Amino acid sequence: MNVISNYVIINVRFLLFAALIVISISQFTYPQTQGENIFKKTCIACHTIGRGRLVGPDLKDVDKKQSEDWIINFVKSSQRMIKSGDPDAVAIFNEFNKIIMPDQALTDAQIKDIIIYIKQQSTGSGQKTMTAELVHSSGMTLEFAGKDEILKGENLFIGNTRLMNRGPACISCHNVNYNNAPAGGLLALDLTNTFSKLSATGISAIISNPPFPVMNTAYKSHTITQDEAFYLVAFLQQVNHDSPNQKPVNSQSRFLLNGIIGTVILFGLFGGFWWNRKRKSVNQEIYKRQIKSI
Ligand code: HEC
Ligand code: HEC
Repeated sequence: MNVISNYVIINVRFLLFAALIVISISQFTYPQTQGENIFKKTCIACHTIGRGRLVGPDLKDVDKKQSEDWIINFVKSSQRMIKSGDPDAVAIFNEFNKIIMPDQALTDAQIKDIIIYIKQQSTGSGQKTMTAELVHSSGMTLEFAGKDEILKGENLFIGNTRLMNRGPACISCHNVNYNNAPAGGLLALDLTNTFSKLSATGISAIISNPPFPVMNTAYKSHTITQDEAFYLVAFLQQVNHDSPNQKPVNSQSRFLLNGIIGTVILFGLFGGFWWNRKRKSVNQEIYKRQIKSI
């Protein structure tokens, strides 16, 4: 009898002990996987950890450079920090050609999880996953892209050719100043010189995993293929290259027209919802036509 009850007690103790270990291990690993998930979803289009600069800086060891509070504030709203004159924030903003890092709607706890992931990946060989280098499926690299590839990119951009997975044409939100390309959507950035700002890796990272909510929604279930990204980048490179030779009259009148339409839309919707304003700002006709036929 005694032997049996001893046996039971020992077993119960063992079970409790085992449960405790399992719980503490899962609590220990939980934030890491959590941070990894968020990082891969929301930061990876613009940042690497130990693989060099992308759209934004390499985040390797950023936790040693800045305090946790600083990082949390920066991730939540970098622009607020920059405008308040924080010297480090202003310096990194200038270093990165004033590219705006979008505000991230994350909690302190989520950002802390990301910091843990960054710490973990900063040691050793660095981050294992990275956005792929931009190569056409035929093996062609961008420096060998010629007229054909650029034309394919133009047609995809302005919607003459459908994107394979039926996403909307870029022009429904973005304008480029290029030969006879029609005027594009108004509120998303003009992409005429985006190539010099972001480089091929930056643009292709953004195309394959858009870090901006509006653009992300448009392509979430309509991903752009690798070859399409290749053509689009080849096109945007050409647009950037040719931009000094574009007819000034043409661009000025288009700019003026866009400005007027933009102002009217802005004022018309100012009292309305921010979210609504973003939606109305796309070239709805093109956008709808494309979405409808899905
Ligand atoms: C659209 C691109 C983009 C996305 C998405 C993005 N960042 Fe950034 N990030 C930047 C740029 C660009 C900078 C350089 C500062 C600037 O231009 O404002 C930067 C700077 C930073 C810095 C300051 C680095 C330093 O050396 O001081 C941190 C920290 C940071 N980002 C973290 C994050 C985290 C975490 C995420 C994901 C939750 C994220 N970023 C998402 C573009 C981005
Ligand atoms: C539904 C609207 C929408 C569509 C369609 C869209 N984008 Fe965007 N894109 C945005 C928004 C919003 C931003 C964030 C910057 C801003 O507010 O203008 C953005 C940003 C970008 C940027 C970063 C620009 C910079 O200088 O920081 C690039 C590059 C880009 N888009 C490329 C493309 C390409 C290529 C396509 C077509 C495959 C495309 N976008 C289609 C809405 C869109």
